[in-house]
Amino acid sequence: RSSTAGRLDLELSAAVTSMTIDGRRVRVLGFEGAMPGPTLRVRPGDRIALRFRNGLGVTTNLHTHGLEVSPEGNSDNVFVMIPAGGTFDYAYELGDDHPPGVFWYHPHHHGTTAEQLFAGLYGAIIVEEADPLPVDRERVLAIADISFDANGDVATATRFDRMLGREGDLVLVNGQALPTMVAAPGERERWRIVNACTSRYLRLRLDGHRMRLLGIDAGRYAEPRDVDELVLLPGNRADVIVEAVPGETAVLRTLPFDRGSMGAMGAPRSATTGADLARFVVRGDAAASAAPSPATTAAPRDLREEEVTARRTLTLAMGGMGGGMGQGMAFTIDGRTFAEGRIDLEPAAGAIEEWTIVNTSTMDHPFHLHVWPMQLVEVDGAPVDGVDRRDVVPVPAGGRVVVRIAFEGITGRTVYHCHILDHEDLGMMGVIRV
Ligand code: C2O
Ligand code: CU
Ligand code: CU
Repeated sequence: RSSTAGRLDLELSAAVTSMTIDGRRVRVLGFEGAMPGPTLRVRPGDRIALRFRNGLGVTTNLHTHGLEVSPEGNSDNVFVMIPAGGTFDYAYELGDDHPPGVFWYHPHHHGTTAEQLFAGLYGAIIVEEADPLPVDRERVLAIADISFDANGDVATATRFDRMLGREGDLVLVNGQALPTMVAAPGERERWRIVNACTSRYLRLRLDGHRMRLLGIDAGRYAEPRDVDELVLLPGNRADVIVEAVPGETAVLRTLPFDRGSMGAMGAPRSATTGADLARFVVRGDAAASAAPSPATTAAPRDLREEEVTARRTLTLAMGGMGGGMGQGMAFTIDGRTFAEGRIDLEPAAGAIEEWTIVNTSTMDHPFHLHVWPMQLVEVDGAPVDGVDRRDVVPVPAGGRVVVRIAFEGITGRTVYHCHILDHEDLGMMGVIRV
């Protein structure tokens, strides 16, 4: 990696990688020989040249999840396909006003996105602030689940696993089972957390310490919020200030979560189990942090109702394809499965749209839109507090959400989909052109 005045040259290769997890030798897929891949640190205004080498033996590509960059040409174009052994030169231009925050990258090859992410292809991207928050320490926590078979290869998913959304037996932090993080008492830390799980919802707790949430995804609250529990859907990120209380050793945990079932009687149900993720050990002499408490960042822009120029309703559904559930189920948006050649939505450049996203199915679907962030306005009829902007929003089983989106700055063709990536691969994705 090299950097001169806003120009970055990066290289990223994807290949089968061996590593040790929990004392066991296993084979995963890695970027640059590691799982997770390297954290990419960039700044607003940067021009990034990224040479991608596909050493996987199968087709893949790269998506920069959440970055507000062009989805066309050789930028964040999910329609690019890089064959086995191929190389592709990506080029991204971040605007001077690109929001800082936590983003991430993963493959986006329709049909195998879930499989390739689950096997280890993910990494964090940090867009730095012009004036970074003063903290004593920063950590990037990429959380992802995975399962292995008896040979130490990544487990393959059954048809039912795919319909429910596959979840792993191990929930790893930066590729490790239950790592220990050591902090000095009184320290003020910034945690950049990525939910890189293929399907698993995370309900994070860190009892005994103070967690202050700056925002989810690229969104920023008007003021940091004290939280006991942090729910991250697949694809969500959190930017959190953690204040290490002297003498408290805690475990970062994720709690069980029920994200619904396949509907039919006796059908499999997704009962996500809880897990211990990391030990947080506070050791040493107590000292007050030199870092001041974080205050308001820039006031977030509020997309108000009066500004809305167009409204739409989108419907997420699961339906039998005939022959009973064993034959598989269709995962649709507005009654259709993904077709690359079709444009499903075509907002005008500059429009501010309000979308009501309805879920008629018996499972939760985390809804993701590329490039243009969504302001979450209402969940199941309940108004959302303050300005809450994110790029993956919860659409509960049998429920609905209302979001507002400003289609400003960037035009082009890209996708929106369920971020349970098995559902995306099964067709729960549409094409949008602005
Ligand atoms: Cu995280 Cu369309 O993806
Ligand atoms: Cu994305
Ligand atoms: Cu889904």
